[in-house]
Parts: sequence; C-alpha cells; structure tokens
Amino acid sequence: MSERESSLQPLVQRFEPYQVERLRQAFPILAQRIYGKPLVYLDSAATSQKPQAVIDAMSRFFLEENANVHRGVHYLSLRATEAYEQTRAKVQRFLNAAHAEEIVFVRGTTEAVNLVAQTYGKVHVHAGDEVLISAMEHHSNIVPWQMLCEQSGARLRVAPIDDAGELQLDELERLIGPRTKLLAISHVSNVLGTVNPIQSIVELAHAQGAPVLVDGAQAAPHLQLDVRALGCDFYALSGHKMYGPTGIGALYGRRELLEAMPPYQGGGDMILSVSFDKTLYNKPPYRFEAGTPNMVGAIGLGAAIDFLGGLDADALAAHEQAVLAYAQEALATVPGLRLIGTARDKIGVLSFVLDGIHPHDIGTILDREGIAIRTGHHCAQPLMQRYGLAATARASLGCYSNEQDIDALLAGLAKVQEVFR
Ligand code: ALA
Repeated sequence: MSERESSLQPLVQRFEPYQVERLRQAFPILAQRIYGKPLVYLDSAATSQKPQAVIDAMSRFFLEENANVHRGVHYLSLRATEAYEQTRAKVQRFLNAAHAEEIVFVRGTTEAVNLVAQTYGKVHVHAGDEVLISAMEHHSNIVPWQMLCEQSGARLRVAPIDDAGELQLDELERLIGPRTKLLAISHVSNVLGTVNPIQSIVELAHAQGAPVLVDGAQAAPHLQLDVRALGCDFYALSGHKMYGPTGIGALYGRRELLEAMPPYQGGGDMILSVSFDKTLYNKPPYRFEAGTPNMVGAIGLGAAIDFLGGLDADALAAHEQAVLAYAQEALATVPGLRLIGTARDKIGVLSFVLDGIHPHDIGTILDREGIAIRTGHHCAQPLMQRYGLAATARASLGCYSNEQDIDALLAGLAKVQEVFR
C-alpha cells in the first residue's frame, strides 16, 4: 500500500468480542444529558448516530483532501478522487457486488428508487404493464412507482401482508405475471421490523422475467448483505441509517441493466462529449452521477462501512437480537400495549400502541425523560391503514442499544400511563 493510500484509510477500531459499553463510547452524542436525564436514543431507524471515526474522516477530508473529483490534474483533486472511488469499492465489498461500476452514489434510498423508476422504469414500463410492491412499503418505495404508473399508464399492484406483518408469499406469487415489469420490495420494514425473504421473492419474480429492486435502507445497518446471493437486480441503501452521514447513499444495479439504462439527470461528469447537436453519455456509474457529488458524504459512508467492518457481524446480530428479545418481553408486561409487527424474522423495530393514549403524547412524555422514539405514520400511511391506525409509537434499536435503554423505556411508559390514569 502506498503512503498516500495508507493516509486515506480511516482508523478502524475493532470491537471484538461485542462490547456494547465500549462501543457506546465511540458515539460521542450518546454521552449527552437531555433535560438533565441520560439520553436514551431509540430512534435509529429514523437516523442512526455517528461514531467518532465517521466524524473524524469527514473533518479530515475537509482539512486535508478537499478538491473536486474527476476534474483536476492537481494533487488534491487526484487525492479526493482516489478517496471517493475507494468508497465505491468499499460499498461494492459491503454488498458483495461483482463490480465497482455497479455502485452508483445517490443522496439516499429515496433517490435510488426514483432513479430506477425514471430510467429503467421509463424504458421498460408501459401502458398495461404492472409494477408490484408490498403493503409494508415506505412512501419512498410507493410514490416513485405511482408517479411512473401515472406517466406510463401502468398499474401499481400491492402484495398483502398478514396481521403479524409477514408478506403473504402465495398472494405475492399470484400477483406476479407476464405484465409484471418490476417488483420493488423492502428488505426490512421500517415500521414492523419484518425481514422479507428476498431470495425466495427474487426467484418468484425472475421465474416470470421481472427484475427486483430491494429497498435496503433498514437492512444495511443490521444484516450481512450479499446482492449476488440475494439475486436481486437493484439494491438501495442510505448512509445515515448505517452510522454514516445524511445526503449520501448507494444504488447497486446489475451491470447489464445499468449499461442499458438512459441517464437520470443531465450535467457535468455524466457525459463523454457535449455539442449543441448531440451529447454522448458517460458509462455507468458516472452516467448517473451528474454534477459535483457529495464527496465528503461518500468519505463518511466509507468510514461507516469501515466501522461496521470493525464489528464482529455475528456478534452484532446476536446482540441486537438479544436486546430485541429483552424489549419484546418487557413491553409484553405493559398493560394495554399492543405490538404492531410480530413477524418470526424481524430486527429491532418495536412499533406499538397504548390503549387510550395517542402516540404523540407517548413520544412527548418520553422525551421529557430523555428518551427519543419516533411517533406518527413513519412514512408508511398505507401500512397504518392496513392496521386501522393513524399512528404508532416506535422504538428502534442500533448497534449501541442496550438493556438499560429498554429499562428506561419501560419506566418512561409507566410515567406515561401515570399521567393518563
Ligand atoms: N424512514 C425513516 C423512518 O422510518 C425516516 O423513520
């Protein structure tokens, strides 16, 4: 490794075996007190907190490396380009994609889905065709497809879920047919925590020739990902859910698909040559990255991937499952509490309602105890309608969550019930 390369490597701390207390110290924000109470952060599904290594990598980029990428012959531009492209290779390894060119930097999962809808979708989805999604999708995996269907005259179909929040695979299979031009599905539900059986879903879709886009926003911080094993055609993730910064994410697309797709936005970097008569477009992934990209965001995402790589993945999964099990047992003791989302295969997302108490009141009272949860429809209004609810309260876990957080939540919920007694 050259001297320059080694200076670009963020410090990777290793946390083996899994030591949650030591790991929490890597997240400076967790040491805060809120209204004089220790912060209990149970909103990682909305956005995760950032470890010092991510904060440092981003500061260091501005302090030592900042220049525009792909555009300069000078030292800093080459160095910034190298750091930016190194992150692309890190995302490739993180997803086990076959080629770095299959990774497109985007603002986040939302932009990734819009990109596929407005490029792949525009070319392949026509009047009379169908786009299939599921009943547990986030708005970002509903609205871009609705927009495409409005533009093309295609029809949006929705695969149902059962009361536990599991996808009804037989119904999904029934809905996939020759008209299905694309299936878009979340890997993990942001409301229910359900982990969908992506491999089986991909097999069903591919049997009918339909490509599959997976919304991996909630999966990326928790699951070991392998797009080749999953067999999916597109996979989208957001940096800020996986201990990286906001404003950066990645779209994986199979090379043959990306190569055949038209550009998303026009501008610098996405072209080979421009004249007033004709523009020749660059090859993927640059074809889809018009304009100066979020360079520091990419550096932060790379550091977040390094951070996750420093955790023992099996130990992390075991820890998160242990805290989830502890939380489920604890919440089961709260009178009048109903958990929404009890799939057999789920990660640490605990949506719930309390008899007679509005979720916003729960959130507001917990906040005064220093406890951060999310309340509302969680950008999944059709899913709320499926359960006949306008809103839920949602506690969601991260790698730093521990049993003390759950104890605090339980004590907080007792106070909420006290207020409404
Ligand atoms: N999608 C994010 C959430 O579930 C914002 O909270």
